[in-house]
Amino acid sequence: MFGNLKALPADPILGLLAKYREDANPQKIDLGVGVYKDEAGHTAILDCVKAAEKFRHDNEDTKVYIGPTGSPLFNEEMSKLIFGDHQVLSTYRARTVSTPGGTGALRVAAEFIKSCKAGATIWVSNPTWANHTGLFEAAGLTVKTYPYYDYETKALDFDGMLNALKEVSADDAVLLHACCHNPSGMDLSQEQWQQVAEVAKDKSFLPVIDMAYQGFGDGLDEDAYGLRLMADTVEEMIVCSSCSKNFGLYRERIGATTIIGKSSSAVDVAYSVLLAVVRVIYSMPPAHGAALVETILSSDELRHQWFNELAGMRDRINGNRRLIVEKLIENGVTRDFSHITRQKGMFSFLGITPEQVQQLQDDYSIYMVGSSRMSIAGIANSNVDYLAKSIAAVIK
Ligand SMILES: Cc1ncc(COP(=O)(O)O)c(C=O)c1O
Repeated sequence: MFGNLKALPADPILGLLAKYREDANPQKIDLGVGVYKDEAGHTAILDCVKAAEKFRHDNEDTKVYIGPTGSPLFNEEMSKLIFGDHQVLSTYRARTVSTPGGTGALRVAAEFIKSCKAGATIWVSNPTWANHTGLFEAAGLTVKTYPYYDYETKALDFDGMLNALKEVSADDAVLLHACCHNPSGMDLSQEQWQQVAEVAKDKSFLPVIDMAYQGFGDGLDEDAYGLRLMADTVEEMIVCSSCSKNFGLYRERIGATTIIGKSSSAVDVAYSVLLAVVRVIYSMPPAHGAALVETILSSDELRHQWFNELAGMRDRINGNRRLIVEKLIENGVTRDFSHITRQKGMFSFLGITPEQVQQLQDDYSIYMVGSSRMSIAGIANSNVDYLAKSIAAVIK
């Protein structure tokens, strides 16, 4: 049986990481992998997570099955984090399940959409996170794209996006990034969210909002602005969240899928289908990451500590955005890279050619993916001069 298989290429980002690890140049810089790193290039465990782990260690008294929904307390805390005091919670129109990471949340959403409508189409932005297309297709959905990022102007192609969304059929799904768009860093303004929400309502498509970076852009509530506005406007939607980045719980695999229905009774029906979807994929989600998140969010002290640690990560990323643009200017670069400071979250396209990306790797040991997507957290005070000089040399 296995003899029928043909080898597939390795994931390009993981291949890049392997090359980076083998590189002996002490000045090497990794701008490839999408994980938060501190000034020392380390992805540390948050102090609030350490405290929550200690609490769980001292208080947890069973490892019995948790059920397909995951922990009810985690689900409640997550829905409050996503929606704040929004009416979808007070009117009981939202149901949340814990999932194995944001990827699991998206896959559960995809299987759920398939249960609603076999062979449904989902529209994703062009470009989008590399895993979206494969993940939705693996669940049997048809994937189509709408214009999003204009590589020439290094800004949103909002007219292109809106015009494409106006052609979407009723009962198609449309994936939107809540904030910190991966890979472009280019987010919708509040006014643009309003227009997209109105089109969603007019065309009756299903918004599926991927929120993998809540708190990494402008703040926890600010980053949820668009999806809360969408929930004011449409009757049904899905939110897929991840706790990988904002809690630094990458390997614990914890996220959530939230469905919003027309009414409490309508969403109960949908929820029964959601639970059946979960049951046949992984039966029940992992519990440890959820236990840490619920411990943090339900304790005033730990929650406050988390806000501060999250703000520290956000401020560092935003600071790095300003820093690299300043250093490029200092190094005599006249080309305009100010788009980097207008974008949000972990990524931006530097906006150089694939050949220049390769030259940065070959001649300067600077690693980023071929599209010139840079992971902004990989920039540090200790490497930014070398980075700016190298970019200046490559684009001159
Ligand atoms: C846009 C987007 N969605 C979802 C995910 C998945 O996150 P997780 O690691 O929690 O599965 C990522 C991870 O990089 C992402 O960038």
